[in-house]
Amino acid sequence: MSAERIDRFQQIAATNRLALPPATLEQIARLDTALQHWKTPALMREFGPAFTRTWREITAPLAPPQRRQFAALYLAQKALAIDDVLRERSLTPALLARYPLALDRLADTLEAMPDPYDFDDELFIKDLRLVLGLGVPAGACILDIRSRMGGTILLGVARRDPLRVLRTGGKIPCFRLYLDPRYREAFNREGMIDYYREAGELLVHHPDVYGFVCKSWFMDPQLERVSPRLAHLSTIPLSAGAFVITRKASDGDRARALKTSPTRRALHEAGKYEPRAVSLVWPREGMIRWAMAQRQERKA
Ligand SMILES: CC(C)(COP(=O)(O)OP(=O)(O)OC[C@H]1O[C@@H](n2cnc3c(N)ncnc32)[C@H](O)[C@@H]1OP(=O)(O)O)[C@@H](O)C(=O)NCCC(=O)NCCS
Repeated sequence: MSAERIDRFQQIAATNRLALPPATLEQIARLDTALQHWKTPALMREFGPAFTRTWREITAPLAPPQRRQFAALYLAQKALAIDDVLRERSLTPALLARYPLALDRLADTLEAMPDPYDFDDELFIKDLRLVLGLGVPAGACILDIRSRMGGTILLGVARRDPLRVLRTGGKIPCFRLYLDPRYREAFNREGMIDYYREAGELLVHHPDVYGFVCKSWFMDPQLERVSPRLAHLSTIPLSAGAFVITRKASDGDRARALKTSPTRRALHEAGKYEPRAVSLVWPREGMIRWAMAQRQERKA
């Protein structure tokens, strides 16, 4: 990390530490011990029960502003150690090159923290995954590098590869896409081609990972008809070995699908579009092959 960024995070840590009880640094060490191994497949809010318990024990006696200050202090301390963490993750040069901007954005956030910003808040959790080297920044989307497969996705994989599911007891790590609503400007076709290519290149260095998954209304192939601007999200993977598992949308899925688009809302009201919850699964072989072909094309 550059000297300038180190200074910035040290400043953030020092300012927030002043407002907290003296035992804070010991508490941070306790949290570090409680954290589960980074290779444990986990969903976004899962860091291991011991970590969650310790976090809540430490922050329960604090007033809400101090909770945010503790959150900022913890993230700043972790950001200062990020180089060592990233060395363990076998990231590609393309993904490592995304860190300077991501760290600057994190420092901006910590210097003007949103409210709320602690363990129950999604933006904080996304930033926590960033500094722990679990959620790799990749434009508009985060590439979570050790997610776990739950119910439907696991069933879909079991149908295609029953031996693998049996052998691992269903504990199969995968990469997973999470959207970061703060950086939507890169959520376009070009940005997503870069994202998929960089994810595919990283799979080569993570042989235990099954492939890539994303569960969202926007992975629905019917977007080709209702929102062609977003269709590349599923058509690219589907043209290169991915498959989808489709389910009825929950109220939350439906609200998210209709939230920003007058066109989708009008089609829904006219009975011509019903949002669906779609899990897209891109097994590693197809994704790597596609990423390598993309790389060749870029070089040509
Ligand atoms: C996912 C999300 C960020 C995608 O946003 P997006 O790239 O702007 O795409 P949308 O299809 O939602 O666009 C909404 C509107 O923005 C405008 N728009 C988007 N891209 C545009 C472009 N390139 N040119 C002109 N207008 C554009 C259009 O008015 C569009 O409405 P329309 O469908 O009636 O044409 C957005 O849908 C969202 O925030 N949804 C709610 C949260 C969510 O679903 N999160 C993911 C959970 S898994």
